[in-house]
Amino acid sequence: MNDVLTIHGGTPLRGTIQVRGAKNFVSKAMVAALLGEKVSILRNVPSIRDVAVVTGLLELHGVTVEDVGDPDGELRLDPRNVEHAQVSDIDAHAGASRIPILFCGPLLHRLGQAFIPDLGGCRIGDRPINYHLDVLRQFGASVEKEPHGIAISAPCGLQGTKLSLPYPSVGGTEQVLLTAVRARGVTELRNAAIEPEIMDLIAVLQKMGAIISVEVDRVIKVEGVDSLGGYVHTALPDRIETASWASAALATGGDITVMGARQLEMMTFLNVFRKVGGILTVGDEGIRFTHPGSPLNSLVIETAVHPGFMTDWQQPLVVALTQASGLSIVHETVYENRFGFTQALRDMGAQIQLYRECLGGLPCRFGQRDFKHSAVVSGPTKLSAADIEVPDLRGGFSHLIGALAAEGTSRVRGIGLIDRGYEHFQEKLDALGAHYERD
Ligand code: EPU
Repeated sequence: MNDVLTIHGGTPLRGTIQVRGAKNFVSKAMVAALLGEKVSILRNVPSIRDVAVVTGLLELHGVTVEDVGDPDGELRLDPRNVEHAQVSDIDAHAGASRIPILFCGPLLHRLGQAFIPDLGGCRIGDRPINYHLDVLRQFGASVEKEPHGIAISAPCGLQGTKLSLPYPSVGGTEQVLLTAVRARGVTELRNAAIEPEIMDLIAVLQKMGAIISVEVDRVIKVEGVDSLGGYVHTALPDRIETASWASAALATGGDITVMGARQLEMMTFLNVFRKVGGILTVGDEGIRFTHPGSPLNSLVIETAVHPGFMTDWQQPLVVALTQASGLSIVHETVYENRFGFTQALRDMGAQIQLYRECLGGLPCRFGQRDFKHSAVVSGPTKLSAADIEVPDLRGGFSHLIGALAAEGTSRVRGIGLIDRGYEHFQEKLDALGAHYERD
């Protein structure tokens, strides 16, 4: 229902759009508010479905979430009357997102126990939660698997600990932070993720009264405190959305200015954009991404944890690489299964081969296993219209870009998935001169 876009492609996207706060920070900052005893105010919040899912879960636990709205995109979160939620109500949120797993630490601190429904999120690999559960156990929580989720309790409270993540996982690091800030004593985390969204979460927690230091070599230390207050914070801009529109400018031969985009957290992407041949203009208010008007260059890239090239930038960029001259190699090292979206591009005429081997970089943990996690893109290829089903959030946006770049009329089904993480994307398509209908 209203879930299909009919796209008449072949028109360069040109114009100006605005990005707001990062999906992968805003949802975590909302959860952090649950840890405090006072009201928090979060600004630059995008209107996306993931925010609605977290709002629903917070409200079930007695947090009042008031959407003050524009111009600042402000949310006011009042956690003063936190209460237990009905398991059946929580269960209704099963499969909606991966954020519920981050409620564990805050709910254990506030209520002594938590029930977490089965998780959702994009199907881009196995996406286990073993790091999260191990972390909680190391803080002294008891974790029981139940038919529809996980029951967690900590009758004796949570105790700071020394731990090390097997991989610098974003969610694993957030789980430690949200649990350690109010645990007794000191927590030392090794092999932590240090993505800009995590740094912004640390800034929020510091505003609330936490004591957290980020040390050399991915070590984070947290000195637990007895109670936390609220925060007033403006979310950092969404660097995944920015890179998605930048790739759309390259793939369609267009010129897109992304207002609100910030250079600092995007330097790795900006270098790659320039190496492909794109023209960049970085201003105080945003970044302009322009196709050079001449053939794009092929290149070799490898996705990695920050400060490497983000896995979430990979999918939109691959669409642009179908228009580059020569062979590009893309080695995906964060998720084992993030090239499923390339089938639709092949259906549109792209030449993309997938390999099990670690191509073009260092061997990663998926090498010598049965995961097709390297891609060779041969270009430039003319893309032609196709009927496509959206597989996941970033893959779906890539399909959209593919259809906008292709000659002819494509039908893209399952478009609702894109609303999870791209605010008002249809209005943005309008602003950029895209030709489409939603039915
Ligand atoms: N992993 C485990 N066990 C765990 C947790 C993670 O093996 O318990 C593995 C994952 O399977 C993956 C790797 O560790 O291979 C890294 O996963 P990570 O925990 O870093 O990812 P995440 O926290 O689940 C967030 C973003 C993703 C983004 C990744 C990497 C949110 C809600 N999601 O996921 O964003 O790709 O970090 O930067 O913050 C998206 O926005 O479309 C998206 C998928």
